[in-house]
Amino acid sequence: MSVIKNNMRPERAIEFCGAITQYCAMFYDPALKNHGLPYNPFKAIVAPRPIGWVSTLDAEGRVNLAPYSYFNAFSDEPPIVGFSSTGYKDSVSNVAATGEFVCNMASLELFEKMSMTSAPLPHGVSEMGHAGLEPAPSRVVKPPRVAGIATAMECRLLSITELKNLEGETVNSFLVLGQVISVYIDDRFIKDGRLDTLAIKPLARLGYQDYAAVERIFSLARPAGAGDIKKVAAAE
Ligand SMILES: Cc1cc2nc3c(=O)[nH]c(=O)nc-3n(C[C@H](O)[C@H](O)[C@H](O)COP(=O)(O)O)c2cc1C
Repeated sequence: MSVIKNNMRPERAIEFCGAITQYCAMFYDPALKNHGLPYNPFKAIVAPRPIGWVSTLDAEGRVNLAPYSYFNAFSDEPPIVGFSSTGYKDSVSNVAATGEFVCNMASLELFEKMSMTSAPLPHGVSEMGHAGLEPAPSRVVKPPRVAGIATAMECRLLSITELKNLEGETVNSFLVLGQVISVYIDDRFIKDGRLDTLAIKPLARLGYQDYAAVERIFSLARPAGAGDIKKVAAAE
């Protein structure tokens, strides 16, 4: 049985199994939070989100590790990745202090341990030790990667931006962008010259307390002629 709320409007009537069925939809205003649902659906809409499992060092050289699902890649030449922190958390202050971070790839195998590293431990207490994880030395940057991880990206800080709303007010969210300067891949996860995503089973964050792991892959070539703008311009 569906409940029709104030902000819902009949979207369309369609015929289904011989009966006319009314379908409803809603708009809600994030500022008013008038979705009428028990939990904010925003993160479930922007889903799945990859998890950047970020290792940093503080100014005293102590290891910090925390998962960030406001994480993604924004450029490939050069590779640029970033994560956003709701509040000025230790990962941000460490990157600000040292200019370096490592994005470890969270996988199904390390699911519970990844979750444990999100515990709000006192500053300076390593989440790695708390979750029973070991550090492994990075190649170029000082923060270590997580030992046993499939892939990790060593990054140097490009910028930290405090995000602003439409009124130009800061919103206590900090976007950290870094250039990837060294990439680690465990040979076990390369098959026929490609990263074996099915073997890694990368974790992704959904809404609420839900996660997904990549367990099914399908491929599709891009349509002919759908090259990027540079290629199109070069051909003209
Ligand atoms: C899967 C997962 C994803 C998370 N993503 C974010 C995020 O994108 N931004 C954020 O501020 N906190 C996020 N958190 C919460 C942080 O991991 C948590 O606040 C952590 O204690 C921060 O550690 P730090 O202070 O050492 O950086 C996430 C937690 C989990 C379990």
